[in-house]
Amino acid sequence: LNRSSFPDDFIFGTASAAYQFEGAAFDYGRKPSVWDNFTHKYPEKINDRSNGDVAVDEYHRYVEDVQIMKHMNLDAYRFSMSWSRIVPNGHVGINEEGVNQEGIQHYMDLIDELIAQNIEPYVTLFHWDTPQALQEEYGGFLSHRIVDDYRDYANICFKYFGDKVKNWITLNEPYTYSREGYAVGDFAPGRCSDWQDSSCLGGDSGTEPYIVTHNLLLAHAAAVELYKKIYQTSDDRKIGITLISTWFEPYSDSPADINAAQRAIDFTLGWYMQPLTTGRYPESMRTLVGKRLPEFTADETTLLAKSYDFIGLNYYTANYAADIPREDPKPESKLQPSYLTDSNVNYLTQRNGVPIGIPTASQWLYVYPKGFKNILLYLKEKYEDPLIYITENGRSNDVNDETKTLEEARMDIFRIDYHYRHLYYLLSAMSEKVNVKGYFAWSLLDNFEWNTGYTSRFGLNYVDRDDGLKRYDKLSAKWFRKFLERPLKLQG
Ligand code: GCO
Repeated sequence: LNRSSFPDDFIFGTASAAYQFEGAAFDYGRKPSVWDNFTHKYPEKINDRSNGDVAVDEYHRYVEDVQIMKHMNLDAYRFSMSWSRIVPNGHVGINEEGVNQEGIQHYMDLIDELIAQNIEPYVTLFHWDTPQALQEEYGGFLSHRIVDDYRDYANICFKYFGDKVKNWITLNEPYTYSREGYAVGDFAPGRCSDWQDSSCLGGDSGTEPYIVTHNLLLAHAAAVELYKKIYQTSDDRKIGITLISTWFEPYSDSPADINAAQRAIDFTLGWYMQPLTTGRYPESMRTLVGKRLPEFTADETTLLAKSYDFIGLNYYTANYAADIPREDPKPESKLQPSYLTDSNVNYLTQRNGVPIGIPTASQWLYVYPKGFKNILLYLKEKYEDPLIYITENGRSNDVNDETKTLEEARMDIFRIDYHYRHLYYLLSAMSEKVNVKGYFAWSLLDNFEWNTGYTSRFGLNYVDRDDGLKRYDKLSAKWFRKFLERPLKLQG
């Protein structure tokens, strides 16, 4: 398996996100996002009480990091822009008085550097870092008002960078933002109401995730409409959205569990793909969530349907799904309605004591490569054969690996194994006509892994936090370099 096993125009890259990489969190005119607020106000919510203040300092080290990409023979780089760096208070204003020119300049420099080194930028506009100012002003994505502010921010990005950036991603994993931020409460802004959990920072897990997703989808649609009207001046300019795509295996072959696995997909991928293709939420969600699920107006439905050129898929892992039988309609008075129980699915990572795949240092991540092919085939068949980019795929370290020395930590054979197997199933899906044009590994470097801080390492390159954030390649980076080498063309 190597580059030449894939079509000539297939691209390989790595992915990153502003809050996880940039640092310079309070410098050069940037104002806080919900993640700055969350990590600083509630450090106990992060395993190692860390934050993204410095992260891996990519803000200052992008030239070096682009060299690392170049050395690895990568074709593309997916990164996100920090909304509150570009528009610190969240509002662009009539004469762009809300725009931070230093922020624009920084991303211009990064983009220019990438292009100079022949690395194609793929830009995510929103990777969970809502400006804190908008969170305080009107509740961020809980309010419909965010749709205009997000579109104005997107407009600034298209306007300044649109000549150089040909591929845009409106949102990263709106599912994760809604679920972890508004139902589980372990990600910013940390809202939840379940189980009387004292660590919840207020909120209503039965309604808020649905409202947040609704507004995220509308914000996406507004940005896409704008892009298509004004900025998409040629066919090679594209806009899409990135979705998480966990695969679900039925816990048993009983019809109830088979249905449960289908509902689990509806409540993750379908929650987005169905509106994005038809303008409506999946039938199972409409039935089970009832009045708590917002509805799109006729105009919104039109705007949403087919509002993408490509789908970005992040694939990491799979779960078993088992049915939880429950009376219908749900006795709302007895049970607090919650997004986490609405699907009537019990999500399991093992069966009879056997895990679904190889466990990793991330509690949620079990290695299950064939689920990758399954979800790709599902997406093709169910949702009109979209153009797909794999916008993330990767794993953290082995369980209990904190004791490793630097040299040991760089010997990540398990990570090579992970990518190899996933690339194998990707090719296999492509041989069954799934239309995939690129693959981004998560991630270029070890970085700030949200609520597990710097304790989970997802990098192909090691970052030494005890020694000035020095970068070292791991075996997986070396492997990619070889994998991506282009054979020398012989003359004559
Ligand atoms: C995501 C994530 C990344 C995570 C990665 C590993 O889009 O899920 O954006 O930010 O770091 O998934 O957990």
